[in-house]
Amino acid sequence: MNKPTIFAANLDDVRPGKTKKVCFPNHAPILLANVDGTIYAVDDTCTHEDSSLALGCLRGSKVKCTLHGSWFSVTTGEPTDEPADEALQRYHVEINNNEIWIDLEPIK
Ligand code: FES
Repeated sequence: MNKPTIFAANLDDVRPGKTKKVCFPNHAPILLANVDGTIYAVDDTCTHEDSSLALGCLRGSKVKCTLHGSWFSVTTGEPTDEPADEALQRYHVEINNNEIWIDLEPIK
């Protein structure tokens, strides 16, 4: 497992049940999601077309794409409803001193 190397957000900015889109140079946007106090990081861009998942809602551990209605698990990255059929990339997360740090190399 790679060590998270880049600051993504303050923990207070991603409250339980909420998401936050974060952007980095030369990298696709990442969605942070707080599921009952645990932070997950996945690609923000839906794998069906190019819609931002940050526009959707988080219900439990699933986020909904507002464009065509697919749901994705933020814990596994897998879509749970059509039309999306490809998983989101996931990223390692570490919390340090109330800060969310992530590794921009996706989990294999
Ligand atoms: S763009 Fe997300 S389901 Fe179509």
